[in-house]
Amino acid sequence: MSEQPYVIDVMISAKAIAARIEELCEEITGEFGDTDKLVVVGLLRGSFVFIADLVRELDLPIEVDFLEASSYGDGMESSREVRILKDLRGAIEGRDVLVVEDIVDTGHTLNHVISLLNSRKPARLKSIALLDKPSRREVDFRADWIGFEIPDEFVVGYGIDFAQRNRNLPHIGKVRFN
Ligand code: PRP
Ligand code: MN
Ligand code: MG
Repeated sequence: MSEQPYVIDVMISAKAIAARIEELCEEITGEFGDTDKLVVVGLLRGSFVFIADLVRELDLPIEVDFLEASSYGDGMESSREVRILKDLRGAIEGRDVLVVEDIVDTGHTLNHVISLLNSRKPARLKSIALLDKPSRREVDFRADWIGFEIPDEFVVGYGIDFAQRNRNLPHIGKVRFN
């Protein structure tokens, strides 16, 4: 499948992403302005580019941690079964936490992660996703902040992969099969 030829059209430019991140960071800074320290949690692997840009725009005292959850593997179809492959390094009880995700598709991944982290009794727990595909949702979940709502297209780049490829594209691209 990954050998099938495809082209990538630009869907959201690097410049548009940067501008949106500035807006989002103003809102997040407002929400967490009184925090002693915000734990920013990136969901590996897809969020690694977004979290890197996001934390550099956040004017708050922060810590960074990562959690790896995988539902897609190398396929195009959600397994609906979210596996925690790597847990947080730090405890989050009583802490302010922001979970950073690249995309919410069926919603299983972020929904599962938020329930898991909520059970650890953080003081405040919020989530942000760069992209949201509401038309694909299978569970009732919405991130607190969303960068862009997109139609049901297969997207890559800015951290998002197609069979582990194209994560290093600086923009969000739309995969088109020939
Ligand atoms: C992708 C994406 C989200 C999740 C969204 O991750 O990065 O984490 O799927 O899909 P959902 O809303 O249907 O659960 P993937 O499992 O492919 O792992 P990756 O981040 O390592 O690419
Ligand atoms: Mn992911
Ligand atoms: Mg993936």
